[in-house]
Amino acid sequence: MSSETLDRGLVLDAVRVTEAAAIAAWGLVGRGDEKAADQAAVDAMRTALNEQAIDGEIVIGEGERDEAPMLYIGEKVGTGKGPGIDIALDPLEGTTLTAKAMANALAVMAWAPKGTLLNAPDTYMDKIACGPGYPEGVIDLDKTPAENAQAMADAKGVDVTAITVCVLDRPRHAEIIASLRSVGARVYLITDGDVAGVINTAEPDTGVDLYIGQGGAPEGVLACAALKCVGGQFQGRLVFRNADEKARAARVGITDFDRKYSLNDIVRADAIFAMTGVTDGAMLEGVTFHGDSVHTHSLVMNSSTRTVREVRMKRPL
Ligand code: FBP
Repeated sequence: MSSETLDRGLVLDAVRVTEAAAIAAWGLVGRGDEKAADQAAVDAMRTALNEQAIDGEIVIGEGERDEAPMLYIGEKVGTGKGPGIDIALDPLEGTTLTAKAMANALAVMAWAPKGTLLNAPDTYMDKIACGPGYPEGVIDLDKTPAENAQAMADAKGVDVTAITVCVLDRPRHAEIIASLRSVGARVYLITDGDVAGVINTAEPDTGVDLYIGQGGAPEGVLACAALKCVGGQFQGRLVFRNADEKARAARVGITDFDRKYSLNDIVRADAIFAMTGVTDGAMLEGVTFHGDSVHTHSLVMNSSTRTVREVRMKRPL
């Protein structure tokens, strides 16, 4: 095992952590309280993480130390006895989806060897992604959405009208949507959850070819960890709306504010990625309770072996 690769046995430890967060969040599904749902997932994820035999440090978490009491950037987690691990996490990806009992809420987490994940600030990121099997550079953040859709169509050998692009439904994306529709591409709008939006590009069953748009930078790092495992291409560029956001980036060591990051710039070694459904979604079923047991549905991936495991867990309440 190289220092750039985590022990494969850690995949089951990782999925236990996302399972715990998803089960805790489930109690708040449909209750209209985003904060409470997030808090429940955070508490459970932190407790589960601290039971793991790892020397973990949160690099993508709930925020900076002064604004997030738990799972803040820089927090040490785990027993401290075990491999040094960079952790990116979102205990509840889709707080609004959870509060409104909508599809696709997830608990997600990525692990990589210490010092190998981009320490992204909590800002927006412009993102573009596609699945595996296409020539390197087929998509490019500096091309227009229409050009990228056309390039995908050419690479797939289909007409551009057969290309589906996932975009977060936000007013800021009006130009992207117009550009895509101007060439006849199909736009699949999602209300939230761009980690899943990016991963969908690598899952042929979802019918999504491309992801384009601006979402959270932390979510960008998590999505890259997943693509590292299943293949695909990603480019991202941080977006700064004010001086405070630039200062946040500087505090995590970013000096080139205009840099275009590739997948391998964001996840610089092999990674483990785990996600568990909170509510039903395109890739995963949500948490369910049958009689006196709870059931979860997860995917856990390891880029060093290119393995994707589907894990169904059942335990008594
Ligand atoms: P939360 O779970 O933190 O609410 O994030 C959901 C999400 O849709 C992300 O998937 C996405 O990256 C981000 O919000 C987009 O931000 P905004 O809602 O500000 O457009």
